[in-house]
Amino acid sequence: MKVAVVPGDGIGEEVVPVAEAALRRLHPEWDYFPVEVGYGRWKRCGAAIGAEELRALREADAVLFGAVTTPPDPDYRSVIVMLRKDLGLYANLRPVRGPGVDLTIVRENTEGLYSGIEWELPGSACTLRVVTEVGSRRIARFAAARAKGRRLTIGTKANVLKSDALFRRCAVEEAEAAGVEWEEKYIDALCLDVLMHPAHYAVVVTTNIFGDILSDAAASLVGGLGLLPSANIGDDHALFEPVHGSAPDIAGKGIANPVAALRSAAMLLDHAGDREGAAAVEAAVENTLGAGMKTPDLGGSATTVAFGEAVLERLG
Ligand code: NAI
Ligand code: MG
Repeated sequence: MKVAVVPGDGIGEEVVPVAEAALRRLHPEWDYFPVEVGYGRWKRCGAAIGAEELRALREADAVLFGAVTTPPDPDYRSVIVMLRKDLGLYANLRPVRGPGVDLTIVRENTEGLYSGIEWELPGSACTLRVVTEVGSRRIARFAAARAKGRRLTIGTKANVLKSDALFRRCAVEEAEAAGVEWEEKYIDALCLDVLMHPAHYAVVVTTNIFGDILSDAAASLVGGLGLLPSANIGDDHALFEPVHGSAPDIAGKGIANPVAALRSAAMLLDHAGDREGAAAVEAAVENTLGAGMKTPDLGGSATTVAFGEAVLERLG
């Protein structure tokens, strides 16, 4: 396995080394190589990613990614949004698990409101929301396969948006074809209901921005952003990253919660076919939290490094 390691910016540089250490502990034989991407690189040399970095990411079997800062600079394009498109990572898988919650949000990752087609005019700005039949069927099939034997919820605003009416039709047809039990909800009502009745939900499929918002909201069910991992999966590439961003408010303090990054590493292991390793990382994280070790976001006083060491110890 060739694993590209991209810490990125802010707390990415603190939590990714913890996740990388866990992978190295279980798979010292894999080839790990660092790749510099992000705002730091942009400040240093004027581009958030270069051709060489892009090639390195394309050559990797899996990417372990931290987070990148996207500054409010009009010339700056979000590098993670670009990478998801460039590597064809059409499925963003965001499991939200905790007591009474076992929900996976499957977010379309390459089109919708994040298609990148936008322009400014005097006094207005326009962002095009492109939803294609190919893209919608592809993500719906992916979600339906994950939902086998459980319920698939389709979240849209099909009552208002033509783009979502198309998405809805494709998702319903693919769910029917896959033979999974499905239901649909409007995304605003769904956001509330997921928080009120989380146990009802198993797999939710939705478009790009709605999935982005829903997953951050759902994070509140299980203790916040510091705990949530994600996988970005395509036919040829896969990238694993915490749901959270670079958290400039706590960056450099050594107190970022590395659990989301560790769980992202577990998803990487699972994707690589090492179910046992994935379960071992999950269990080590659970046991560490269960023993009362917590970073400040969870009300504790553990540092990122101390938490990571406790997890590594449990990995043996
Ligand atoms: P954020 O997720 O970085 O932070 C939101 C809040 O959650 C902050 O108060 C932060 O301290 C806290 N938090 C997040 N992760 C944490 C962790 N592991 N441990 C403890 N506390 C944690 O989102 P925000 O503030 O909206 O964005 C900051 C920067 O990150 C922006 O430049 C944004 O563009 C970027 N970003 C990048 C993402 C990516 O690379 N995929 C995703 C989301 C945001
Ligand atoms: Mg987000």
